[in-house]
This record gives sequence, C-alpha cells and structure tokens, in this order.
Amino acid sequence: MGPEARAVRRVEECAREIVERHGFNELRIPLMERLKLYQRSSGETSDVVQKQMYLVQQHDDAAEADAVALRPEGTPGVIRAYIEAGLDRSDPEQRFYYSGPMLRYERPQKGRFREFNQFGVEVFGRGDAAIDAELLIMIDELRQALNVELEIQINSLGDVNCRPAFRDALLEYGRAHWSELCDDCHQRLDRNPLRLLDCKIDVKLAEGAPKSLDYLCEPCRVHFATVERLLSGAEVRYVVNPRLVRGLDYYMRTAFEVVSSAVGSQSAVVAGGRYDGLVEALGGAALAGTGFAIGVERMALVLQASGIVAEGRPDAALIALGEASLLAASKLGADLRRRGLRVEMLSPERGLKALMRRAGRLGARAAVIIGEDELARGVVQLRDLDASSQREVALELVGRELEAARNSSPD
Ligand code: HAM
Repeated sequence: MGPEARAVRRVEECAREIVERHGFNELRIPLMERLKLYQRSSGETSDVVQKQMYLVQQHDDAAEADAVALRPEGTPGVIRAYIEAGLDRSDPEQRFYYSGPMLRYERPQKGRFREFNQFGVEVFGRGDAAIDAELLIMIDELRQALNVELEIQINSLGDVNCRPAFRDALLEYGRAHWSELCDDCHQRLDRNPLRLLDCKIDVKLAEGAPKSLDYLCEPCRVHFATVERLLSGAEVRYVVNPRLVRGLDYYMRTAFEVVSSAVGSQSAVVAGGRYDGLVEALGGAALAGTGFAIGVERMALVLQASGIVAEGRPDAALIALGEASLLAASKLGADLRRRGLRVEMLSPERGLKALMRRAGRLGARAAVIIGEDELARGVVQLRDLDASSQREVALELVGRELEAARNSSPD
C-alpha cells in the first residue's frame, strides 16, 4: 500500500529498464514446478529444499514423481524452460529476466517474508569473467538509479577441480572443532561443509576457517582476478568477503551478495553467482550459467529508508455539481487525461465542502469545478489549492492552465 507499494514498483521498474538496456529478455516462469526440479537444483542440503518448500496437495491418482512445489526461487524454473524450449542446443547464449512472487516457509521478520518478490536475471552460454562483472555493473547501475547505499561483496568458491581440496580442508577444520559446532553445523558438515562459513552461530569459528581463495586453481584464480579488474575499471566499489558462501548448492567460482544496513539482520538485498554445470545436471547441454536475484521488498525497504518515494500529485480533482454538469465534467476529464494530465473525478453525490476537503487530501494541485451556471457559460471554476485562489477559466483553456501549473511546480 501507498509508499511501500510505490517503492516496490520503483525497484521493479528501474531494474527492468536497466536489464533491458543490457539486452535481457523477459521470461515468464510458472509459480509451480515439479518438486524434484528444486531438489536437483537448489540442492538437497539447502535450507530451501530441506525446510522451506511449500508442497502442493496432490491428487490421489498422481504419481509421487509428479509432486509439485510452489517456487522458492526462480533459477530452476528458468533453466527448465530454457532446456524444454531446446535453446541449450539451438541458440544457447541467452539473457533472461523474470519477476514475481517466491514462496518459502521462513520465520517472518523485517525484510523476511513467506511470500516475497524477486527480480532475477540468468545468463546462459557465457563462462567468461566479463559477464560476471557485467552483472555486478548492472547492480551498481541500479544502486545509482535508486540513489541508495549498498555494499557489493564478492568471493570465489572455486570449481570442480579446486573445490574438493577446499572442502576437505573445511571438513578437517570442522571435525577438529566438532565440540564447538552448533547443531545445524553438526548436521550439514559432511554434506555441505561450506555452510560452516556462513553459520550465524559459529561466527568465531567461521573466522578462523580455511578460505576458498587460498585454494583456487589457476583458471579460477584468473577468472576471479579478471572480475576484479573489470569492476575496478568500471569504478564499481566492492569488497572481497572470503567467508561469503551461498545458501543454495549450485554455485561455483564467482558468488556475490549485495548488502545494506537498512534492512536489519536480513541484510542481503541482492544475491547470485555462477552455476556452470547446473544446466547439464538438469538434463541440458554442458553450458555455463550465471545470474542473480534482487529481493524486491528488501530493496524497497532500503529505498524507503533513504527517503520518501513520492507519487506524482494529481493535477486536478474534478468536481461536477448537479446532474446536468456530470456529462460535461466526465468529457473534460477524458480530454485532460489524453493530454497526459492526472485527473481524478470526485463523487457527484457529496457536497462542495466535503469535495474540497477530499481534493486537499488527495494532494491535487487544483480543483476544477463545474456547476450548472458554469456549464451554461462554457467555463469552469479553477481553484489553485496551493495558493488558495480561484478564478474562472474557459472550458477549452483548462488543459493549458493545468499544464502550466504542473510545469511551474513539478512533483
Ligand atoms: P537467494 O539468496 O535465495 O538466491 O535469494 C535472492 C534474494 O532474494 C535475497 O538476497 C533476498 O534479498 C531475497 N529473499 C530471499 N528470501 C527472502 C525472504 N524470505 N523474504 C524476502 N526476501 C527474500 C536465489 O534465490 C537465487 N535464485 C539467485 C540467483 C539467480 N542466483 C543465480 N541466479
């Protein structure tokens, strides 16, 4: 509602404009997909799959393999659609964006909802560092367009060649500190030791843990160095956070989060990274993939914290007094809106005093009043609500007068 809804819309509109300028095309993905799609992509060890999925009640005769879930994130659905359309074979290099609600069973708090919106992008067929840098440059463009403070954090998680050694080192570290680990870390250490690094409880332990950057193989090291070089070249401010790992299992090499202090403890407003291998794991060709998703409500909170997102003021509240002037007023309204003016016609069932109060509450610049006398003479009463002055204006000149008022005091 109100400023919140406006902030959400501003984030979505700005994001759409920026990604389209970078050549991204919209993809509309469904709200439900097969449960097994999420299990295979988001990852069996991820919180999303383990405890946050909303399952859809199945028909009695539906096979278990057809179980369906509401989407907790957009990436798997985009990949599924991309493969199903045969693009991985016929025209693999694609840039997609999508936007809409995601559902996760979480404990709600400020900036964390069970139903929230993401604006996401996915790029397929580009394994180079330049595209990772371009994604971060787009996020920086969004930061500038919205005029908000954000911190871009990046890390490299290595690839299939160097990650095993890093994983082993973490596993060894975790085992050596077994008695100090929290329950969650105990449970996931063997399956996904990387999560130790972003444990909110074992913060001290995470600080002393091995870092992926120290284990990168040469190609991963060069990839990460190129991302850094391109970001610096584009004057994008960022920090390397060696403890940054992602809650979803599919990431490799570049991973990033964009954080703000305005959202409380739920500080990540954008997150993403590279996921080469996932398209193939889901039955497609062996292709690179990379992307991110903006948490739209969280970004809107940041926007709101930095100032009010004002709606454009109505140029006029239109008031028809008496049955006879109703038609003329409604025609005038249509004419004014065709000129691009913002005009709200008020209820003909209320008295002038109440209507003037209403016009004031709407924040309208002017009230345009047509009574039977004005109708007969082809004029209106034009009341400037900022200056509290009123004059008579010929019907055909109302549009021009309202335009002049808008130009002399823009929103
Ligand atoms: P994610 O980190 O799970 O990544 O979510 C991305 C963003 O969505 C978060 O940084 C946050 O802003 C927002 N978000 C997540 N959960 C909630 C919630 N419960 N309430 C409000 N906002 C939330 C993904 O979803 C990946 N699919 C991103 C990606 C795209 N990676 C590659 N391509």
